[in-house]
Amino acid sequence: MKQQSCNTIWHQASVTRARREALNGHRSAILWFTGLSGAGKSTLAHAVEERLHELGCLTFVLDGDNVRHGLCGDLGFSDADRHENIRRVGELAKLMLEAGVITLTAFISPFRAERELARRLVADGDFIEIYCNCSLDVCESRDVKGLYQKARQGQIPHFTGISSPYQPPDHPELIVNTDQAELKACVEQVMRVLTARGVVA
Ligand code: PPS
Repeated sequence: MKQQSCNTIWHQASVTRARREALNGHRSAILWFTGLSGAGKSTLAHAVEERLHELGCLTFVLDGDNVRHGLCGDLGFSDADRHENIRRVGELAKLMLEAGVITLTAFISPFRAERELARRLVADGDFIEIYCNCSLDVCESRDVKGLYQKARQGQIPHFTGISSPYQPPDHPELIVNTDQAELKACVEQVMRVLTARGVVA
């Protein structure tokens, strides 16, 4: 659903995305990492960012935990709040795309419909969905933050995979099996997609 503010008129920037990309020497894009808590979204996003930064690219990681400290600090984990979380992040990522930045988002983003909304905010090819595929068993056994244990004990309501659903993508641009492949191999997989799509040379 497109929200419209009253009495506002879009101001067209003279410094366009194309000019920013020419200055940066690379295309901008949104790399949308999705997967269960503990599936390695943030780890992979930051590792890919390191590689891109070394190549001289302009990058930024929007991380679920961090964004929920500020921009989305008023939101919880009900379906409606997750929807609003992803809506805001999709809009923010769209602005960053215009700013010429390769933006890496690391959110559980459990619902297909919300991910599709985020995808449809931008042009075909600008949105690269990367499914961090890791079984619930492995995520739960890692339990890096101790959240699964709390969720099992009923201390965290609506916990993804336990008491709230996760809908895997049907047609992501890339699936990385983070419970099987080494981090380095996962980074290479992502970099190959970025090269094939002309985001980086
Ligand atoms: S969502 O579903 O996309 O809106 O979630 P996201 O913004 O990515 O936030 C996920 C991080 O919040 C912590 N956390 C929870 N996750 C899932 N379910 C519940 N109920 C919950 N409560 C807190 C958790 O640290 C998630 O971080 P990751 O990095 O995914 O483990």
